[in-house]
Amino acid sequence: MPNYRSLLLGCGARAVEHMDVYPQLRNMEMVAVCDLVEERRENYRTRYNVPLAFADYETALAEVKPDIVHAVTLPGHRIWEMECAAKAGVKVVIVEKPMAITPSEVAGLDRVVRESGLKIVVNCQRRYFPQFCDGTISDIVRNKLGEVYLVRASAKGNMMGMGPHLMDLLMLFLAEAQPEAVWAMARDWNETSYQSTHRAPQSMFAQYWFPGGVRVLFDCDPDALGTPGEESFWMHLHYDFLGSKGRLYLTQNKGYWYQCEGMAEPIHGESSWDKQGLGGQRDFTQAVADWLDGGAPHLNRFEVSKAVVDALHGALQSVYEGRRVALPHTFTDEQWEELRQRLWTGEK
Ligand SMILES: NC(=O)c1ccc[n+]([C@@H]2O[C@H](COP(=O)([O-])OP(=O)(O)OC[C@H]3O[C@@H](n4cnc5c(N)ncnc54)[C@H](O)[C@@H]3O)[C@@H](O)[C@H]2O)c1
Repeated sequence: MPNYRSLLLGCGARAVEHMDVYPQLRNMEMVAVCDLVEERRENYRTRYNVPLAFADYETALAEVKPDIVHAVTLPGHRIWEMECAAKAGVKVVIVEKPMAITPSEVAGLDRVVRESGLKIVVNCQRRYFPQFCDGTISDIVRNKLGEVYLVRASAKGNMMGMGPHLMDLLMLFLAEAQPEAVWAMARDWNETSYQSTHRAPQSMFAQYWFPGGVRVLFDCDPDALGTPGEESFWMHLHYDFLGSKGRLYLTQNKGYWYQCEGMAEPIHGESSWDKQGLGGQRDFTQAVADWLDGGAPHLNRFEVSKAVVDALHGALQSVYEGRRVALPHTFTDEQWEELRQRLWTGEK
């Protein structure tokens, strides 16, 4: 008998992976799905043989009383989604990235967590890919490259689309270090298609200073250096780590290699979205129940994920002020809106 009962909120494209892993979980059961669109919720209900389907989230919470909610919705209503869950006694909400778009949303989520005790886990599931989860890459970064002095991190999606994944893994490799300062520039803000919800400049380039003199060149831009051979924008996510004694080149889907002083040849390893994506989502999800059972704190728990968005908002503050800023940021929603107007390039 499963211990934890789950509700899926949002039956769109992304939810497929959330649902596909359920048969492989030890003590979690999907008991209901919810979507405003009847066709979508019925599609999920029948495809995954889920007992119940709802159009209204609050009704679903009241009737199902789930332990876990998967909020697989677009950003924009995260505070409400969490407040409803907390009120209904939900233990954990797994929420898709980006956790928040504006500074006040981060503050609002922080308030919900503190006041209700609700656990929030942000779906940056790459942390549970084997070479990231077992510490292989972190070990190379921290112990094999000597003094790491420069990291180049790049993605082709915008800073609220791919930026959360890019910053999240970076922080994992750097032992959850938080940047001390940032200097950034950005251009082109439109809100068509994907960017209508992942609201951010289309192109953003930042230089972050992390503790210990680690400089990070952080690029979220359709023109960013991509991974050779990849076609989808979201498959371009990769890093170069340069250290005093070696170098690591790491991609999301085309493996990694590193070479240190004294090594005649680089050592290659696997990093593959195609092979590891679903297993990563499975282990990410199982880790939620394990955490509730008293196991290790989830790698994507709220405070870890909050640091990711805070760092991204710091970059926006730097763009707004046109100078290097010390972190933590003091960026406000009013400044965010002013910046949006300033960078706007779309139709109004
Ligand atoms: N972690 C990853 O690797 C990854 C990959 C792709 C997408 N994502 C993220 O997943 C999120 C969802 O993306 P998507 O493409 O599935 O979006 P989508 O628009 O296809 O699906 C969202 C669904 O939520 C439903 N919905 C919204 N508000 C609702 C409400 N109040 N009650 C009931 N249903 C509601 C909508 O009707 C829609 O069907 C985005 O934030 C995206 O960035 C993450």
